[in-house]
Parts: sequence; structure tokens; C-alpha cells
Amino acid sequence: MKIGVIGAGPIGATLAEQFLRVGHTVTIANSRGPETLAELVESLGAGAQASTAEGAAEFGEVVAIPIVYGRYRELPVAALAGKIVIDTTNYWAVRDGDMPELTTSGKTQSELIQEVLPTSLLVKAFNMIYWERLRLWGRPAGNPDRIAIPVSGDDAKAKRVVQGLIDEIGFDTVDAGSLVKGGKSHEMGTEIFPGTGPAPTFSRLALKETLGLDKSA
Ligand SMILES: NC(=O)c1ccc[n+]([C@@H]2O[C@H](COP(=O)([O-])OP(=O)(O)OC[C@H]3O[C@@H](n4cnc5c(N)ncnc54)[C@H](OP(=O)(O)O)[C@@H]3O)[C@@H](O)[C@H]2O)c1
Repeated sequence: MKIGVIGAGPIGATLAEQFLRVGHTVTIANSRGPETLAELVESLGAGAQASTAEGAAEFGEVVAIPIVYGRYRELPVAALAGKIVIDTTNYWAVRDGDMPELTTSGKTQSELIQEVLPTSLLVKAFNMIYWERLRLWGRPAGNPDRIAIPVSGDDAKAKRVVQGLIDEIGFDTVDAGSLVKGGKSHEMGTEIFPGTGPAPTFSRLALKETLGLDKSA
């Protein structure tokens, strides 16, 4: 699959590395231009290339957006139209500053991104896995040490595609529900992700139980 990654910090670089490892091709972008990503692309190896954010969005059948939350309005809206977009972001006031459109509106973090990307098939995932764990803790399906990643979104097919990618790179998934209600349940600042240090990890069953979801589903 062709995957675009907009954001080349620890999460973007690690997602690129993991998707490449299982055979996908990746175009990665940051805000400063592809020439600043030459070293990263070289270390990622075959199948990786750098572009602008718009170029990465155009390239990807699926596009991840591991950028700082406070910059979501800069996303290339037209190039992301109709595409599966993986929202890994977390609002973190210390970094992102006061954002009244979030903090006083009652809207969720992904809901605001969906407003900016109205036709994109948004799936919230990877927001509560620390990058080093994403890099090192992937395990084959059925391994008792496999940890789970919560996934939320409104488009069932898009969610299944993202769940498939997560499974390929070594993690279970838990469908936490819709973008707004499900997404809210795994935002930073929740019981399962207090946001003080790396997020806790859960097995699939433990995550379902903690989210109050049906364990047999
Ligand atoms: N670090 C983790 O372990 C972790 C885990 C889960 C989720 N997250 C969340 O995932 C997101 C990324 O985390 P991170 O730690 O990788 O962040 P980071 O180190 O701050 O990296 C952010 C990246 O996004 C790029 N960027 C910012 N605005 C952009 C724009 N408008 N267009 C294109 N690229 C843009 C930056 O490029 P420039 O440097 O060129 O500006 C940088 O490469 C955050 O929202 C974070 O809360 C992080």
C-alpha cells in the first residue's frame, strides 16, 4: 500500500519505519521541506521518499498525520479529500498553547480535525502509544505479550483498513467506537491515558475492559 506520513518527528519516523518493514511504500513530509528529510529517508531505506505535506497526502492511499496538534489547520485539505487519514495527534496545552476552540467548545480533538478535513475518512489511532514502544514492542498475532491500540472512527471500512495496518506491524486493536465518543475515550487526559509520561499499555482484553466495552465482541 502507498502510505503518506505528514510529520517526521518520533511518531512519524517510527510509523514510516514500521510500515516499510512490512512492505509498504512511504512518502514522508515535515513543515520545512523534503530537503530537510534527506538523512531520515536514507536511514529508512528502500521504499521511502520525502515530499511536501501536499505531496505525501497525494501519494498516500492512507495518510497518517503525526503533527503537533496545534497546527492541524495547516493540513493540505484538498489533497486529503476522500482519503483514509490516521489521526495520531494529542492536544497538549504545554506545547500547543491555549486553544479555546477545543477547551471551551466541548468538541473533541479529532472532531475539530474532521471539521477541517470534512470529506476525509478520519481514524484516530496511535495517539496513546509511546514511539519507542511502537518501534520495539510489535509482536506476532497471538503472542501473549502483544499490546493493543485503540482505534476510533465513523467509517467502518476505513477503520478496518487501519486496524489491518496496525495488525501487520505487530499490535492488536480495539474498536473504541465512533470518532467523537470513541475518540474521546482515548484522548490524552483520560483514565486510560493520563498524559503524565508514556501512556500505559494494555492487552486487548484489558483495554476493552477499561474502556467498558463488550469483551466478547
Ligand atoms: N512522541 C510520542 O511518543 C507520541 C506518541 C503518540 C502520539 N503522539 C502525538 O503524535 C503527534 C506527533 O508526535 P511527535 O512526538 O512525533 O511530534 P514532534 O516531534 O513535535 O514532530 C512533529 C512533526 O510534525 C511536523 N509538522 C508540524 N506541522 C506540520 C505541518 N503543518 N505540515 C507538515 N508537517 C508538520 C514537524 O515538522 P517540522 O519540524 O519541519 O516543523 C515534525 O516533523 C503529536 O500530536 C503527539 O502528541 C506522540
